[in-house]
Amino acid sequence: MSVKLEGNIFVTGSNRGIGLELVKQLADLTGGDTHIFAGCREPEGSGAQALRELTSQHPGRISVIKLDVSDEDSMSAAVQAVSKQIGDGG
Ligand SMILES: NC(=O)c1ccc[n+]([C@@H]2O[C@H](COP(=O)([O-])OP(=O)(O)OC[C@H]3O[C@@H](n4cnc5c(N)ncnc54)[C@H](OP(=O)(O)O)[C@@H]3O)[C@@H](O)[C@H]2O)c1
Repeated sequence: MSVKLEGNIFVTGSNRGIGLELVKQLADLTGGDTHIFAGCREPEGSGAQALRELTSQHPGRISVIKLDVSDEDSMSAAVQAVSKQIGDGG
């Protein structure tokens, strides 16, 4: 089965494991109509190195968003960061 994906896609836990692989495949398999928001607890930390490298390999396609899903303030900040970028297009 093939599915055409476009628009804005948010992936949580995207710095390693399934999340990182999902971001990689989405970046490889989708085009310019798709923007990927990659949620990550510590975007500047050593554990996000692979995600940062992936982001630089796909300029303008992936935005890393700081997000801890167990922290409501972090979730609100992530919503604001995404809203600021996509405006009414979300
Ligand atoms: N249903 C199934 O068949 C199946 C199969 C495989 C996996 N799973 C589930 O899928 C999930 C991912 O698996 P995985 O193998 O990729 O796990 P993993 O390699 O341990 O990665 C977990 C990811 O979640 C992030 N994370 C943990 N707590 C978080 C929080 N409070 N807020 C935001 N991000 C958080 C981690 O970030 P940090 O690096 O900051 O810790 C990491 O990026 C797990 O829940 C696993 O149980 C389900």
